[in-house]
Order: sequence, then structure tokens, then C-alpha cells
Amino acid sequence: MSTTSGNPGAEIAERIAHLKKKRSAVILAHNYQLGEVQDIADFVGDSLELSQKATQVEADVIVFCGVLFMAETAKILNPQRTVLIPDPLAGCPMCDMAPVEAVRKRKAELPGVPVVAYVNTTADVKAEVDICCTSANAVKVVESMPEDRLLFLPDKNLALWVQRHSKKDIIPWNGYCPTHQRILDHDIRRLREEHPGAVVIVHPECTPDVIDLADEVLSTGQMVRWAKETAAQEIIVGTEVGLIHRLKGDSPDKTFIQISPLTTCPNMKLITLEKVLWALEDMEHPVEVPEAIAAGARRAIERMLAVV
Ligand code: 13P
Ligand code: SF4
Repeated sequence: MSTTSGNPGAEIAERIAHLKKKRSAVILAHNYQLGEVQDIADFVGDSLELSQKATQVEADVIVFCGVLFMAETAKILNPQRTVLIPDPLAGCPMCDMAPVEAVRKRKAELPGVPVVAYVNTTADVKAEVDICCTSANAVKVVESMPEDRLLFLPDKNLALWVQRHSKKDIIPWNGYCPTHQRILDHDIRRLREEHPGAVVIVHPECTPDVIDLADEVLSTGQMVRWAKETAAQEIIVGTEVGLIHRLKGDSPDKTFIQISPLTTCPNMKLITLEKVLWALEDMEHPVEVPEAIAAGARRAIERMLAVV
């Protein structure tokens, strides 16, 4: 008999734990996932940490709680495993801003210019580029390239952030994250007045005027580590709201303030506890990347992993 009757969340979590054993599965979750999904995961991290973790999984099944490009990356790096995404509609609008035909056309206009792709791209785009990067390693990846001129896609804000830290000539693609784009410089000015002692941390997907006002610009994984180490007690968090659950869990003595009420990524929130359970029950929805595309994409991702 269940020990959790009357608490549907705990009951679902118990059934997930049982099925995880039965299927030999591990659950990987991105820092933007709902709190209850983060709580049942074996590993929670940023996109770089999740790629690194995916290469090490020995269990038969990876249930990937995040958006599709992240689950595809796990499948590309560890093709022997069955990778399930609890909702296959969890896409990333930024990925869709760089369709493969447009990337090929731009490459043809820039002969000899290598292409750096943020991991927020589809697998077929990754197969077209020289190297991938994440928000945690973008500057390091760009600096690792021998060429002085690079096309950087799809995030123009991350490209401009990298340009501030590199002497190379970076040609940005015109993409952006709709969630981070909604964070405004006005939000920071208002919150600084309300919380005079607070420190402002933002993600490099934010616009340059937001970045200008921030104290620190960090990937989600870097935010988690930074928050543990800082002496600051009040922290204004300029990224998707799901990270606050992770931050509170890791640094319970500190206060985290959401930068704006608009920082929810609707795609990340498509993954729910129920859908994780159904994924394990029905072995749905397997992520497949044709080997002809996966081979090229793997080369670009592994080149990145060799840099960091
Ligand atoms: P991180 O690489 O910092 O986890 O960010 C991924 C992402 O999609 C940000 O919107
Ligand atoms: Fe894509 Fe932005 Fe959502 Fe990250 S937060 S998955 S970049 S839409």
C-alpha cells in the first residue's frame, strides 16, 4: 500500500521512483524545470553540465526533462541509450530562428568564416557548424578558434556578450530568447530602489542594456555556484523563474528575487510530473536523430567538450 495517499504529488513521485528502477532509467533535468520535476531528478544542471552528464550515463534509459534540443544533444552524445522526452512539443523558439536552409545560405555568403553555434540549435544545424558552445563556455570556445572572424548563431545577445570579451570579429545571427528578451532595464532600476543592498545577476541571453546594469553575467550553473559562495544576502535573479527553486534549495539562507513577473519559459513548463510518469510507463517519447545528422552534430559538440 502507498504511504503517500492523500498527497498526489508524492504518490506520483513514488510511482516514478518504482518505474525508474524497473526501466533502469535516470532522470536529467534542466535548471528551468518546475520545482517538483527538479526534485525527482537524479541530476539537475545547466545545458553544459547536462551534456557532460549525458556522456556518462550507463543506465538503459535517460528521461530528459528540458527542451528538445537538450534531449537531442543527450541522444547524439550517448546514442546507445533510449532518450525519452516527456513532452515532444517542448521546443525552443530561439532554435527555430536559425533554420538549416538559412544557415547554409549565410555560410555560402561568408566563405572561410567558421561558425560557432550555441547548443540552442536543432541537430541539423549543429551538423553544419564548426563548433558548439553554451552560455557557460561561449567566450572560451570563441577564443579557442584559430580564425579572427566568426559567425555566431542563433542568439544575438549572447554574441554581443561574447564580443565584449573577445578581440575577434563576431558576426551575430538575428535570434534571441523571447523569455529573456522580456527582462527590461526598467525592472532592474525598480528592484534596486526597492532592495538597495541586493546584487543583480543576469543570464547572457539578456539584452545589452540589461547586461549593462547587472553586477554579474552568468550561465544558470554559474549562478548556482556563485550564489553559494557570495557574501550577498539578497540576490535579484535575471533569468527564467525555475532557477529560483534550485537556488533556494542550494542556498536556503539567502533571499532570491525574481527580476520580472514575465520570466517563464512556456516550453520548459510543458514538462510536468505526470508526463514524466507517463513517459516511463509507456516509454514515450523516444528522441531519434538520424545517424547522418548525428555524426556531424556530435563532431561539433565534442569539439566544444574538448575545450572545457
Ligand atoms: P544555460 O546553458 O545557462 O542552462 O541556459 C540554457 C537556456 O536555454 C537559457 O535560456
Ligand atoms: Fe529557449 Fe529561452 Fe526557453 Fe531557454 S528560456 S529554452 S532559450 S525559449
